[in-house]
Amino acid sequence: MAYYSRFSPFLKPYLPQMVGAAVLVMAVALVNLLLVRLAGFLWDIITVQHDLRSMTNAIGLFLGLVIAQGMLAMGHSYLTAWVSQHILADFRIHVFAHLQRLSLGFFAKRRTGEILSRLMNDVSVIQSTVTETPIDSAKQLVTLVGGVAFLLVMNWRLCLLILMLLPLLVLVARMFGQRLRSLSTAIQDQTASTTTLVEEVLAGIRVVKSFVQTHREEARFASQLRTALEMTLRRAAVLAVFIPTITLLTFAAAAAVLWYGGRQVIEGAVSPGDLFAFVLFAGILIGPFGSAARVFAQIKEAQGAMQRVFEILDTQPEIRDRPDAIDMPPIRGHVRVDRVGFAYDPRQPVLCEVSFEVRPGEMVAFVGPTGAGKTTLVNLLHRFYDPTEGSVTIDGHDLRMVRLDSLYRQIALVPQETMLFGGTILDNIRYGRQEATEEEVITASRAANAHDFILATPDGYRTLVGEKGVNLSGGQRQRLAIARAVLKNPRILMLDEATSALDSESEMLVQDALDRLMSGRTTFVIAHRLTTVQRADRIFVLNKGRIVEEGTHTSLMERKGLYHYLYTLRLEELMADS
Ligand SMILES: Nc1ncnc2c1ncn2[C@@H]1O[C@H](COP(=O)(O)OP(=O)(O)OP(=O)(O)O)[C@@H](O)[C@H]1O
Ligand SMILES: [Mg+2]
Repeated sequence: MAYYSRFSPFLKPYLPQMVGAAVLVMAVALVNLLLVRLAGFLWDIITVQHDLRSMTNAIGLFLGLVIAQGMLAMGHSYLTAWVSQHILADFRIHVFAHLQRLSLGFFAKRRTGEILSRLMNDVSVIQSTVTETPIDSAKQLVTLVGGVAFLLVMNWRLCLLILMLLPLLVLVARMFGQRLRSLSTAIQDQTASTTTLVEEVLAGIRVVKSFVQTHREEARFASQLRTALEMTLRRAAVLAVFIPTITLLTFAAAAAVLWYGGRQVIEGAVSPGDLFAFVLFAGILIGPFGSAARVFAQIKEAQGAMQRVFEILDTQPEIRDRPDAIDMPPIRGHVRVDRVGFAYDPRQPVLCEVSFEVRPGEMVAFVGPTGAGKTTLVNLLHRFYDPTEGSVTIDGHDLRMVRLDSLYRQIALVPQETMLFGGTILDNIRYGRQEATEEEVITASRAANAHDFILATPDGYRTLVGEKGVNLSGGQRQRLAIARAVLKNPRILMLDEATSALDSESEMLVQDALDRLMSGRTTFVIAHRLTTVQRADRIFVLNKGRIVEEGTHTSLMERKGLYHYLYTLRLEELMADS
């Protein structure tokens, strides 16, 4: 229930329209009742009174009511859709906005598909329960109260009979309904996992083929389909029994009413028209009883969905501005890492006692074996995570004390995995600075050694790249990512294996250009290819989360430690290659 009240701020702006839709639909229900009553009178006029003039009038009135009902229904239908779609959009935007504020740690722990399903499916389940259900209930309420009132006035004994039979009918229908629903959910889940399988296989088709696993994937697909088939057939069986059963029960109930009412007509206690109206009333009363059962199930389903959605909304970003955070002043680039320790998972420390100081304008390289913690260190310098111990300061400001936006605006990261958005090459480079001029974009592209290959693409800077930029090579994508970072004109630039996919010559060109651009600013470079880091002012060698060596290329080579080992290993590889 608490969830429902939390949803109310989203309903509030649309309350007048919601009430309007409810009033319209209540009017529809009322006209429905009148139509049924009128049908009873008409029946008597035709069969008992034999009055042509009254009949014409009654039919005229009937048509008038039908037209009125149609117009009301049109208004209700559109208004309900208008309200519920607006609320759906507002709520989804709210959840999405919150989602984007959450820290990297949140996304690292969850699967994208799961988050997506909460944003899309769960939100729409909630929306329909919270908006459409109350409006529909207003209609059912009028039908129930009005219908029962008419019946009571007309013949209270028959009315009681109907009120006994109807819930029975609904109960049986509900039993089947529950079974059908749980089967349908299972079928949906099954379909979803089959879709995931197909997606995965298609995305990785090269791996599947080259590892000769097509038969295995086929078997997995077939087994999933078989499960789905079995469940679908089970549902078909339930449905096959369900419909005749309900029909039978309905006719039995109708027969009971007809038998009892018919006797009264024959005895002259009830007019034929009244009996006719009576049966029709009984028919429309199925609506409210059925919907009561449905609403109950819907509310339960919505509660599950709300729990999942509000879990996201209740998650606070771990990395967020403190209330007393200040704006980061223009960065000079003096970075100090002081006895930093960090762990993604408390059981497994990743960084330990890391300390160093970098002067403005220095170019610093991190090297070390894979898994040493280089990317993690950059994550802390960027404040994607906060250190568990120690502190990171820039120009004397602890990163935890400054506003995130003011920090992020002045630094740039080219991550290990390149991400391009769907759109043109130009859009992708301009991602961080929409207002950048064409010349600025070209300057950045030249620095990233990307300008020439961009011009060689079919539409130059207007060439569309796929959702992951699939039509570009790995090295081309990396160069776009560098151009994007350079265009941001950052005071601190971090390159995490940003040139790993380039050949040595292109890499050197990019490095030269970056040297010029970044002069006077601080640069952090991570690279496995040690030729890249030779030019760094200082090199930090990481191993198992600790800095084990520090110095220039020459001094580290003289030391004959880990750096020397990694470097000579690399050289030997190169020799062997050539
Ligand atoms: N999101 C995460 N959650 C839990 N553990 C993580 C996460 N990211 C990295 N790790 C772990 O932290 C350690 C350091 O990882 P990191 O990515 O910093 O290594 P790296 O030095 O950048 O390696 P590489 O050269 O392969 O990129 C690894 O043991 C890794 O398994
Ligand atoms: Mg890494």
